Amino acid sequence: MSDKIAYSRNGDIAVLTIQNPPVNALSHAVRQGLMDRMDQAEADSGVRAVMIVGEGRAFIAGADITEFGKPQMAPALPDVINRIEASPLIVVASMHGVSLGGGLEVVLGCHYRIAVPSARIGLPEVNLGLIPGAGGTQRLSRVAGVDAALDIMTTGRQISAAEAAKIGVIDVVQDGDPLENGLAYVTDLLAKDAPRRPVSEIAAPEAIDWDAAYDAVLARGRGQISPAQCVRAVQAGVEMPFSEGLAAERQIFTDLLKSDQSKGMIHSFFSERAVGRLPELKGVKPRPLDHIGVIGGGTMGAGIATSALLSGLQVTLIEMTPAACEAAHERIEGNLAGALRRGKITAEQHETILNETLTVTNDYADLSDADLVIEAVFEDMAVKKKVFIKLDRVCKQGAILASNTSYLDVDEIAAVTSRPQDVIGLHFFSPAHVMKLLEVVVAEKTAIDVVATGFELGKRMKKISVRAGVCDGFIGNRILATYRDAADQMVMEGASPYDIDAALEGFGFAMGPFAVADLAGLDIGWAVRKRKRVEAGIEGVSTYADKMCEAGNFGQKTGTGYYDYAAGAKARVPNPEVMSLIVADRTAVGTVQRTFTTEQIIRRYMASMVNEAAKVVGEGIARRPLDVDMTLLFGYGFPRYWGGPLKWADIVGLPDLLEDIATYAKNDSNFWEVAPLLKELVATSKSFDSLNKES
Ligand code: CAA
Repeated sequence: MSDKIAYSRNGDIAVLTIQNPPVNALSHAVRQGLMDRMDQAEADSGVRAVMIVGEGRAFIAGADITEFGKPQMAPALPDVINRIEASPLIVVASMHGVSLGGGLEVVLGCHYRIAVPSARIGLPEVNLGLIPGAGGTQRLSRVAGVDAALDIMTTGRQISAAEAAKIGVIDVVQDGDPLENGLAYVTDLLAKDAPRRPVSEIAAPEAIDWDAAYDAVLARGRGQISPAQCVRAVQAGVEMPFSEGLAAERQIFTDLLKSDQSKGMIHSFFSERAVGRLPELKGVKPRPLDHIGVIGGGTMGAGIATSALLSGLQVTLIEMTPAACEAAHERIEGNLAGALRRGKITAEQHETILNETLTVTNDYADLSDADLVIEAVFEDMAVKKKVFIKLDRVCKQGAILASNTSYLDVDEIAAVTSRPQDVIGLHFFSPAHVMKLLEVVVAEKTAIDVVATGFELGKRMKKISVRAGVCDGFIGNRILATYRDAADQMVMEGASPYDIDAALEGFGFAMGPFAVADLAGLDIGWAVRKRKRVEAGIEGVSTYADKMCEAGNFGQKTGTGYYDYAAGAKARVPNPEVMSLIVADRTAVGTVQRTFTTEQIIRRYMASMVNEAAKVVGEGIARRPLDVDMTLLFGYGFPRYWGGPLKWADIVGLPDLLEDIATYAKNDSNFWEVAPLLKELVATSKSFDSLNKES
C-alpha cells in the first residue's frame, strides 16, 4: 500500500495525510494512495468521517507535472475525485499553503472545506496551456457561479482564503494548525449530523452568452488557446448532465495536453526553475550581500537601485554632480512611489527606504563599505574603465565589482583592476525594477563565489538569472542583433515593417521588432550607426532609418517613428512618411523585390533567431538551450506558450529549419552560415531539449 498517504484514526474520524514533498503533487502513488485509504476508511468500523490534510508546505499543488506526456497510469485523477465525492462518509478538506489545479479539484470533491487564513487556491492550468481536467470547470462553476469560476480559471490567478470563502469555495477560515482545526471542525459537523454535500448534486448555474465570453477571453490571451477553452468546458457543464460535462471537460484537457502550446508552457515552467540551478554552484556559498553600490543614476542605474531597495538591500548611488544626484534621487523616488501605489511596499517601508536605506552622493569614498557595486554608466569602454579603476581603489577587499554593460568585453574591464576574480557582468534590462531578466556574465577570471553572489542577488530581486559567457551582446543582445538584421533584410526585399510587426505579434510576441524599436528610441541605433561609420571612415552615407531620425522621428518619445502615436501608444498607426523612405532605399540598393506571406516572415525571422541561438549554445556562451529560451522569454517578450526559440525549433522540427536556412543562404551565405550545433543535432536526430536533459 502507498506510503504517500498516511492513515490514522482520531475517534470516529479517519485522517488521510498527504506526504509527497516538496508540494504534495498528485503523482500516481498519491492518486492510488487516496483510493486505497478511502477504501480503508470506509471499511474501518466506527469511522463516520474522513479528513484530508497535507503535510509540509502545501495541501496539494496539483497534478504531478513531471508525469505529463508519459502514459497515464490508473487511477486517473477524475476517478479519484469522483470516488472521494461518492463516499457514504462525509469527507472534509483542511487546507493550508496552496491548493492548486488538481489540488483544488480534490478540495471541490470533498463535502466540506476549512482553511487557515494564509491558504491560497487557484486553477493555474492555463499557465501550462491546459484547462482543469478533473472536474474543476464543472464543480467550481457550480459552487462559485460562472463569472467567478471563469475569472479564476482563465487568469490562473491564486486567490486568498478570505476571497475563496466569499465565493463559497471555503466554508470556514480559521487560524491555527490545519490538523487540529480540521478535527475540531469535523467533530462539530458530526455532532450536528451534517449531511454529505456533493458539489455534483448542486444545480447547474445559469447560462451566459458563451460565444461572447469565449471571444473576449480569446482576445485577451494574445494567441493562447487554453483560457478560451475553459469557457467551452464550463458551457458543457451548464448545458449537459454532470457526468457528460465532466467527460467534455476531460476531452478538452486531453486534446490540449497534446498541443504545442502546452508543450511550450510546460517547458517554460520547468526551465524557469532549472535556469538558476547550475551544477558548479552546488554548495558554493555566496559572499555577504547587504550593502550595494550603484554607479550612475540614469534610467538604468535608478532602476537597479530601486530593485535593490525593494529587496531590502542598503543602497549607495554615486552620481557626478549635486544636480545629477538630485535627478537620480527623484527618479528613484518616482519608481518607489509606483511600487507604493501598486501595493508592493507599505507606506512605512517607503519612508524607511527613502530616509534610511538609500544614499545618493557624489563621493566614491562612500562605497568603502559596499559588498557589491554595479556600474551603470554610459556604454563606452573608456568611461567604464575609468570607473573600475576608481572602484578598485576605494572598494574593500572581497567586494564584488560588477558592470551592467549590455555588450562590452567584461574581461577587458576586469583587466584594469587589481582583482579580476572579483569582477562580473550583471546585465539588467530596462526598467530594471520591473523586467525579470538578469544576465550574469561570467568573465574568464571571475571567482565561483562571485558567480554564486550574482545569482543570489538575482534571487533576492526575484529575477530570472541566466548564466552567460563573454561575447558581443552576451546571450540576449547577440541574438537580438541577428534577428533584427533578418527583419531589416526582409524590409529591403519587400516586406513592410508593418507586415513584419503584424506577423510577429500574431505569432505571440508582445510587440513586433519595429514597434519595440519605437519604444526603445530610434536615436540609440542612429548614434551607434554614426559612430561605427566614423570609426570605419565611411561618411556621408544615410539609410532610410537614418533619414527617419534626421527628420526627428525617434519613436514614441517624439510621437512618431515607424508609427504615429498621436492617438496614444496602443492606437498607433503607420507613419505615412516611412514607406517612401524605404522604397527610395530599396531602389538605390537595387534589391530584388518579392512578396512575403505571414508564414514566410515568421519562418525567416525565427530561423535567424534559432541559428544564432544555436551558435551561442555551441560556443558555450549559454550553457544549455534552456538558458537561451529563458533569456528570450523574460527579456525580449518571446511568447511563453512557445517555450522559447529553441523549444519552438524542436516543436516545428530541426530538419525543416535547416532546409529553410539552406534556401536563405543561397542569397546571403555569410549571414545564413549554419550553426554547427544545429547541423549536428539534425545529423544525430536529436533535439535541443535533449541537451537540457543531458546537462
Ligand atoms: N508537479 C510536479 N512538481 C512540482 C509541481 C507540480 N504540480 N509544483 C511544483 N513542483 C516542483 C517544482 O518543479 C520544484 O522542483 P525543484 O525544486 O526540483 O525545482 C519544487 O516543486 C518546488 O516548487 P517551486 O520552486 O515552484 O516552489 P514555490 O514555493 O516557489 O512554489 C508552487 C510552489 C506555488 C506550488 C509552484 O511550484 C507552482 O505554482 N506549481 C505549479 C502548480 C500548478 O500548476 N498546478 C496545476 C498542475 S496541472 C493540474 O493540476 C491539471 C489537472 O487538473 C489534472
